[in-house]
Amino acid sequence: MDIVQKTDEFIFQTYPRSGNAFVKGEGLKLWDDKGNQYLDFLAGIAVCSLGHCHPEITKAISNQASTLVHVCNLFYTKPQAELAQALIEKSFADRVFFSNSGAEANEAAIKLARRYFQAKGQKSRYKIITMEQSFHGRTMATLSATGQDKIKEGFYPLLDGFVHVPFNDIEALKNAVDETVCAIMLEPVQGEGGVIPADNAYLRQVRDLCDQKGILLIFDEIQTGMGRCGTLFAHELYDVTPDIMTLAKALGNGLPIGAMLAGDNAAQGFTLGSHGTTFGGTPLATAAALEVLKIISEPLFLESIKEKGGYFKAQLQSLKEKHTSVKGVRGKGLLLGLEIDGNAGDYVKACMEKGFIINGIQDKILRFAPPLIVEKEEIDKLITVLDELLP
Ligand SMILES: Cc1ncc(COP(=O)(O)O)c(C=O)c1O
Repeated sequence: MDIVQKTDEFIFQTYPRSGNAFVKGEGLKLWDDKGNQYLDFLAGIAVCSLGHCHPEITKAISNQASTLVHVCNLFYTKPQAELAQALIEKSFADRVFFSNSGAEANEAAIKLARRYFQAKGQKSRYKIITMEQSFHGRTMATLSATGQDKIKEGFYPLLDGFVHVPFNDIEALKNAVDETVCAIMLEPVQGEGGVIPADNAYLRQVRDLCDQKGILLIFDEIQTGMGRCGTLFAHELYDVTPDIMTLAKALGNGLPIGAMLAGDNAAQGFTLGSHGTTFGGTPLATAAALEVLKIISEPLFLESIKEKGGYFKAQLQSLKEKHTSVKGVRGKGLLLGLEIDGNAGDYVKACMEKGFIINGIQDKILRFAPPLIVEKEEIDKLITVLDELLP
């Protein structure tokens, strides 16, 4: 049996896999087991933002792997302490909780928001408003938070206390708010939902509403954070600060790590014993993430994302002008979407055959989330392929 056969035989068939088995990566390049080379415009779904096997990250991982891998959170470790300090210095936050994944970071955010009020005796204040089309993860709480029915099927009853409202609609949000709401949770740019950015005015109005009503604002920056949208965190583009923020994906450039960050006020919700995890924030994962953060948060690096993202978007826009099958171009920085009149899956397959990895979401949207080190020439190559494929 080869890699594909073994996988199909022994692993739960929960993923619509493409048929390619990858064996090696370097920068934007990936190689499959047959020796074919690909340019990766998905980066493991916005994870390998510094490209595959970035030398500095590989060095940090291998140094740490030969020094100390895990001790658990009953003890202190240097990489964890340093990553926490660096994240706090570069964000609005005062405290961080480390997890292993995005869903777990969101679980921590949901628990923090509820406990913040319950610790003050406000037991009936437990509802969280999230957005239609949102995606927050696959655990029971984050699935309950997610505003997409199709992925909830078969898992009912879900967790009580989640209300979904249309995204970018402030009146709908205002109407949903009452004294039982503890938090509003949203992605500044909806990723899985179709690469849909929040409107500038909307995010400001959401912040004002939260301030008026004493509600906590949670930004899920698991996909949009770590430079993906051209600033270290996407909310900086909007000049709106949350009370709680979650990160994962690119934080470890492929090593599993998530983080839930909060300002001093919201952070009061967790006290000794409130929450925990065996693996969250291991020396190995935090040593890698510290190096990732150092590189991505360099002002020149962030500037380059804005510049290349603008270039990429302009090229996609020119495809729209040329091809009637392109219905829209959306996104921020290097998280971009092309809405097409056709089946996204067909384009993903056709691009793969030509050596380009892209992603299809919501049936008709092509999502691009390349490593942030992508070069203009690589963008040009993909645009040429799309130009050929689009009717
Ligand atoms: C915005 C957002 N939140 C949460 C998650 C869940 O993260 P994970 O798959 O690491 O649990 C994702 C994953 O795609 C995401 O895009």
